[in-house]
Amino acid sequence: MTLSRFLNKIRKKLKEHPHMHLLKILWPFLWSIDRGIQGRFFGAFFIILFSTALSITVPLLFKEVVKILTTPDARKETFVFLILGFYGATWTLTRISIPLREVLMFRVMEKGVMRLSAHIFEHLHSLSYDFHVRRKTGEITSAIEKAQDAFPAILWPLFFLIIPTFIEVLIVSVLLSYLYGFFYGIIMITIISLFLIYSTKALSWSLEARRQSNKKHYQSNSNIVDSFLNFSTIKLFNTQQSEFDKCRKVLQEREEATTNALVRGRCVTVGQDLIIGIALILFSILSAYKVLYENYNVSDFVLINSYVLQFSIPLGSLGFILSNFRGQLIHMEKVIELLSCKPSIKDGEESLQIIDKKLTVSCKDIYFEYEPKRPILKGISFDLLPGKTLAIVGSSGSGKSTIASLLMRFYECKSGEILINKQNIYTLKQESFFKHLGAVSQDITLFNDSLKNNLTYGNPSVSDEMLDEVIKLTLLDSFVHALPDGLETTVGERGLALSTGEKQKIGIARVLLKQPSFYIFDEATSSLDVETEKKIMQNIKNVTKNATVLIIAHRLSTIRSADEILVFDKGKIVEVGTHASLLKKKGRYASLCTAQAAT
Ligand SMILES: Nc1ncnc2c1ncn2[C@@H]1O[C@H](COP(=O)(O)OP(=O)(O)O)[C@@H](O)[C@H]1O
Ligand SMILES: [Mg+2]
Repeated sequence: MTLSRFLNKIRKKLKEHPHMHLLKILWPFLWSIDRGIQGRFFGAFFIILFSTALSITVPLLFKEVVKILTTPDARKETFVFLILGFYGATWTLTRISIPLREVLMFRVMEKGVMRLSAHIFEHLHSLSYDFHVRRKTGEITSAIEKAQDAFPAILWPLFFLIIPTFIEVLIVSVLLSYLYGFFYGIIMITIISLFLIYSTKALSWSLEARRQSNKKHYQSNSNIVDSFLNFSTIKLFNTQQSEFDKCRKVLQEREEATTNALVRGRCVTVGQDLIIGIALILFSILSAYKVLYENYNVSDFVLINSYVLQFSIPLGSLGFILSNFRGQLIHMEKVIELLSCKPSIKDGEESLQIIDKKLTVSCKDIYFEYEPKRPILKGISFDLLPGKTLAIVGSSGSGKSTIASLLMRFYECKSGEILINKQNIYTLKQESFFKHLGAVSQDITLFNDSLKNNLTYGNPSVSDEMLDEVIKLTLLDSFVHALPDGLETTVGERGLALSTGEKQKIGIARVLLKQPSFYIFDEATSSLDVETEKKIMQNIKNVTKNATVLIIAHRLSTIRSADEILVFDKGKIVEVGTHASLLKKKGRYASLCTAQAAT
């Protein structure tokens, strides 16, 4: 095989290596077109080269010092002091250059961490609803946290240890070959190669255990988060003991896997130290033999041993760092996995054409399923005009929230068309569509922020008069007045400090403040008492009279005055009409009304 073919093969193998792929993804976060960053990079690289040259020179100077000192007649020469001074200065410079290059690179590394974290955050937000329905919060937060640690842990040793050590080893091998013959260079390269081959094989063995340990780590974390999210359910169902047992079991599995990974890691280090030890013995014996029986000077023995010892430290720690390095790469794999999730809803190109806030919504023969072979919506069609209110009723599980989710672009329908002002919803820029949409879903989550900021979330520049007005309309006024800090009260994490009804009122208020053209209320008042619900719905009606409104309701009294009512059953529309006409029909709607009136 010719050299170029051999090199090509190595290049191809490296390119295909999964870790190369990972480094390729990480690299852009580190390297940027920012001049300052590039300057720091080049500065650090220059210092690395400079200190490598210095650290190779130190043993050479030391050899000279030994040589002069062991030659009796040369002792008094001032030259020796000069070299000694030079030796000391070189050693000091080599040491100083280490923190110096690190100081240069701290900013670069931290900027990289910042850019990567921001990118992950933005990427996860860009993913579609179905990802977030299925995701585990614990896993995500843990992955982001790990990425922040892993990013410098991967790139730092790569630049400051792995690459410089290899350059140094290569130069020293050439130097030894030049000074004492190829034999030394060959031994050096052989031992380093042995070290590397052993390390790669042994590390992938230890890495498998590390992977298992990480998996268990993520599992136990997401298990703990999940358990706290369900805190009240656990308490009410009196299942604390079984939760404790479950948590303990996962933690025990984690303990098992992590111990195994750590033990394997140390086994690898022992092997690496053994190889370096063999190198030290070989070189010492060889050079000592040459001093004793051949023409070597003691200074040659000193030089050869200095080089071997000089490498034993970085190579020894290289073993440890390589294993840590690869462990960190595994953490990064999890992040890359998250980054490679693509949003299932693609953004369109067109802007929503809307005049005078008038928005028409048409659904034409919509079919949809979450999972294959389980159709949820089977041919839904309706038209909803601006200024009109459409209500959807039906038994739970009939697909009411699903049609709302499709209109909110959380999912894409399988067949059929959703038209917004005659434009296909999927051709619209999401941002241009969401600007006009105001949706209140079944369960409201609130930010861990002040009540005011939660209310004005969709429209921060809203006037205080308007805010007061909407607070009155949603019957939140007495609640707000009763709070010692009023609107400045912080709402607990996930709104835990509020009742579901209060959260629903806030959910409605923040949408009204946004002043959209298209409202979707999905059982938005389900937790309110009949009286309050009636009042709020009446108030909403006044505010939204020019807008397009879709109301999904469980309680039929709330939608009595809707312009059109659709009755859903098993993913189909079984009846259409107004309250009066549907009652007259004495069909499904009428029987639902009778059933509710009886309760
Ligand atoms: N994210 C989901 N993945 C799979 N199935 C779902 C999902 N969301 C809802 N479903 C199923 O779709 C059906 C309709 O749900 P939904 O539209 O929420 O009903 P409802 O009329 O009560 O609002 C239900 O059987 C539900 O189990
Ligand atoms: Mg629902």
